[in-house]
Amino acid sequence: MSKLLVTGGAGFIGSNFVHHVVEHTDHRVTVLDALTYAGNRASLAGLPEDRVAFVHGDITDAALVDELTARADAVVHYAAESHNDNSLHSPRSFLDTNIVGTYTLLEAARKHETRFHHISTDEVYGDLELDDPARFTDTTPYNPSSPYSSTKAGSDLLVRAWVRSFGVQATISNCSNNYGPYQHVEKFIPRQITNIIRGLRPKLYGAGENVRDWIHANDHSSAVLTILEKGRTGETYLIGADGERNNRDVVELILEEMGQPRDAYDHVTDRAGHDLRYAIDSTKLRTELGWTPRFADFESGLAATIQWYRDNESWWAPSKGRTEAFYASKGQ
Ligand code: NAD
Ligand code: DAU
Repeated sequence: MSKLLVTGGAGFIGSNFVHHVVEHTDHRVTVLDALTYAGNRASLAGLPEDRVAFVHGDITDAALVDELTARADAVVHYAAESHNDNSLHSPRSFLDTNIVGTYTLLEAARKHETRFHHISTDEVYGDLELDDPARFTDTTPYNPSSPYSSTKAGSDLLVRAWVRSFGVQATISNCSNNYGPYQHVEKFIPRQITNIIRGLRPKLYGAGENVRDWIHANDHSSAVLTILEKGRTGETYLIGADGERNNRDVVELILEEMGQPRDAYDHVTDRAGHDLRYAIDSTKLRTELGWTPRFADFESGLAATIQWYRDNESWWAPSKGRTEAFYASKGQ
């Protein structure tokens, strides 16, 4: 396996994966990315041209997807509309990219008998109560809440059907909330960091008791590479690093790390249908495939992420104004 087609490789996690592949393997990568508001070529800057090619295009373009898949040994599918808040206001593009785009890629993988890895989310399982000792596993029933998570659930089910009905050599991974460099300022952690840099107060939805299970994007990338190399066709692997924190604790940690009072944030309108808690049990990935996370210390990973946003204002500044204008129009 030496030629990878990486969809969504100019996005947050996809670009992290491309950097990871270049650093840790000798694979060559072709990135296919539509450069939506969330895609940024600067996230791939400095990578060697003889290892990484970039194609500007849409995963719903069947002819382009067919041509690129024919030349690949494996497809790693990150491209998606990824933000829950956007899906509550403009769901259509989520159906196009997450459902039709995945279908288009599966048809090409089927035709060319290409290994396929589908990147998905823990949100397909719905949410857990705060005091529930259970965590998500690959046998937890699907119960998505938002337009975003329901389209991701739909895409997972398409992959399963293409494995069973057509023998596509596919695996699926469902990961928890990622943090790290190159994440769009619409997302929780970068929004608060860049607010503080700009002299704005962090914004917490509702009471801030919602829990997310944080994992560094580098650990997500190493897990995907492990699944690509050792995963069994048709299997689903959950990726997580035991990083449960409630949103209020995360905001307070960011404020403290950035030298501000821990209570210098605002409570704003809650997200409609806001999932309460996600928690991943990644035992299967760890015991069957031998993967372990390496960035387990959330405080130091967060401090490094804050420093990255301080050092890379030119990367995020062009998106900040319109992102905050969108939130302000929704009372958030
Ligand atoms: P992102 O929004 O940062 O990046 C998405 C990328 O996909 C962008 O570069 C965008 O230009 C591209 N894209 C969108 N529509 C496209 C289309 N029609 N054709 C081609 N390219 C298109 O997203 P992310 O946070 O990096 O998430 C990547 C994947 O990981 C998604 O599938 C998401 O569901 C999944 N995931 C994300 C997280 C998380 O915490 N962010 C956690 C688990 C799983
Ligand atoms: O769990 C995996 C999912 O994690 C991925 O599938 C999604 O693509 C990714 O966006 C992320 O979804 P969330 O909705 O959990 O992430 P977000 O960063 O939007 O919000 C994290 C939590 O913070 C959530 O409880 C909502 C809250 N929040 C968010 C924003 C933007 C706030 O309190 N204030 C904010 O300003």
